[in-house]
Amino acid sequence: MENNGHYEKMRTEHVRASHLPDVVMPAVSMPQILRGQRALVTGASSGIGRAVALALGEAGADVVVNYIGGHDGAVSAAEEIRSKGTRAYTHQADVSDEAQVIDMFAKMIRDFGTIDILVNNAGLQKDAPLEEMTLAQWNKVISVNLTGQFLCAREAVREFKRRGVRPEVSCAAGKIICMSSVHEVIPWAGHVNYAASKGGVMLMMKSIAQEVAPYRIRVNSISPGAIRTPINMEAWGTQEHYQSLMKLIPYKRIGEPVEIGRAAAWLASDYADYINGISLFVDGGMTLYPGFETGG
Ligand code: BGC
Repeated sequence: MENNGHYEKMRTEHVRASHLPDVVMPAVSMPQILRGQRALVTGASSGIGRAVALALGEAGADVVVNYIGGHDGAVSAAEEIRSKGTRAYTHQADVSDEAQVIDMFAKMIRDFGTIDILVNNAGLQKDAPLEEMTLAQWNKVISVNLTGQFLCAREAVREFKRRGVRPEVSCAAGKIICMSSVHEVIPWAGHVNYAASKGGVMLMMKSIAQEVAPYRIRVNSISPGAIRTPINMEAWGTQEHYQSLMKLIPYKRIGEPVEIGRAAAWLASDYADYINGISLFVDGGMTLYPGFETGG
């Protein structure tokens, strides 16, 4: 996920087939829909997490930028957020380590006073065919992608319940966004640990949502499809791979990290106050069974 130099070199623009319209990217600005709120984004040194941290900052939130390995990416994300006028600091912690998670929340509550928004984003892939997958690869993915989200959600809910609703900040006592994936519903050969973790996130998210909704805590997921980040560089890094990826995406372009950032800012805001327990697919239609465009 690091190695940003290589990642930059591999960037390709949106490639389209000649009979289809040009890709036009949204040119929109971020309204201040999270002013006065305090957010923690896990895994925010690169990729989707970084874009979400920046978007929440732009929407007016103070942001804790959690990271584990990508120190420079986290520092520059925090700097960029501060340069736009809200507070931000970095916090190195392994989300799968209970003590480190508890410390991270305690520090945030000391420094920022409380937490309004948790974005449970930290996640990774350790791919292998089933027969070659080691127990270590299985455990690593489950413990970061699933257990890490549980540990952070638990701390956030404890604080949301303690503090309750402050109507001048938000209608809700707190918001949790779990970063899931289209692979919470699309099976993925060669990635059984990852797909199992995201399937787990889906029902964990819904069960927590059901449990804490009466306390005016909203819990939802964003389920991205193929987004241009280091995690899936192989799928978009050459024209050939990009074209073959397009077979899976009816909207015929890859998603950009900022698009997940915008979705997260909106979902965390009071514009989405009556939304609870959903998976918001941000995937250009990847979950529409594109194989059936021509068959069936
Ligand atoms: C995975 C990516 C993949 C995408 C669509 C994501 O959850 O992390 O590697 O490209 O799903 O398949």
